Amino acid sequence: MIDLRSDTVTKPTEGMRAAMAAADVGDDVYAEDPTVRELEDRVSELFGFEAALFTVTGSLANLLAVRALVGVGEEILCESSAHIARAELGAHGAVTGLTMRTWSDSRGYVDLAAVEALIAPDMGPFFVATKAVSVESTHNFAGGRLQPAERLEGLRALADRHRVAVHLDGARIWNAHVATGHALSELSSVADTMGVCLSKGLGAPVGSLMLGSADQVAEARVWRKRLGGGWRQAGILAAAGLYAVEHHIERLADDHAHAKLIAEAAGVDPATVETNIVVIPTPDAAGVVARCREDGVLVAPVGARVVRAVTHLDVSTEDAGRAASVIAKAL
Ligand SMILES: Cc1ncc(COP(=O)(O)O)c(C=O)c1O
Repeated sequence: MIDLRSDTVTKPTEGMRAAMAAADVGDDVYAEDPTVRELEDRVSELFGFEAALFTVTGSLANLLAVRALVGVGEEILCESSAHIARAELGAHGAVTGLTMRTWSDSRGYVDLAAVEALIAPDMGPFFVATKAVSVESTHNFAGGRLQPAERLEGLRALADRHRVAVHLDGARIWNAHVATGHALSELSSVADTMGVCLSKGLGAPVGSLMLGSADQVAEARVWRKRLGGGWRQAGILAAAGLYAVEHHIERLADDHAHAKLIAEAAGVDPATVETNIVVIPTPDAAGVVARCREDGVLVAPVGARVVRAVTHLDVSTEDAGRAASVIAKAL
């Protein structure tokens, strides 16, 4: 089977497993795991943040980061198909007690005019006060689209003008870095807090990081434990993350080339496929998924009329070519 359902399905490589086996570990709830500390230091430095916290998932990283910016009965603005709004199962409302309002953009772009119109100042008992805007890059459900740099600059200026914070859901920011050539610290400069994932294109089995100021991260550490996310000898997992950051960033360019190849075969304009996600419209998503499966390719339905194919570390150029013809036939 060639599995294109998600870039989360990768298996650790031999080199990664060796790094995990050799990891120096300690109790991370006591902040005494040297490999976790090394990963947190390395990633916060890469993105230019004061501090970072290693978390089990990207969802938890987003939850802790957004919680640092928005409180009970306050709101965050985001695009309507953002992962935080659509796929974190209401955690932000349930745990933090915040509300969300959204704008819609088929490319997942931040719409500066819409954001400006949505921002509500603190009016005491009359309106929910806007505390933050969240932006996602690359944007998962919009097909791995990159946020244009000028929109991110515009968002920072707008947020400063209205004294609201910016959260960047950078689960796949590594793909944005490789696709644009912009430094990671440049891409993150829009944000007050950020989440990044190691377990997607980078191929680690588990792990994400929440990034922010030293105070925000110290508070997030308490909340992570409160939510049952404190872990002990997590250095075994952090070692996989360090290995991934060291070895698996630049190769994301291969995934992007493979995604374009699949897009062409699927009749999707390759110019719209900027990274590793191909969103394929079809009148019969379930049928396409079933026919692909019969021919040895797994793709995911992401709606009744859309299937998604995601390229990753475990998909070779040969696999991508074979998947492209299977998908074309199934369509
Ligand atoms: C943009 C984005 N943010 C956050 C997440 C959450 O990551 P996790 O599945 O590790 O909770 C995902 C997962 O696909 C994602 O695509």
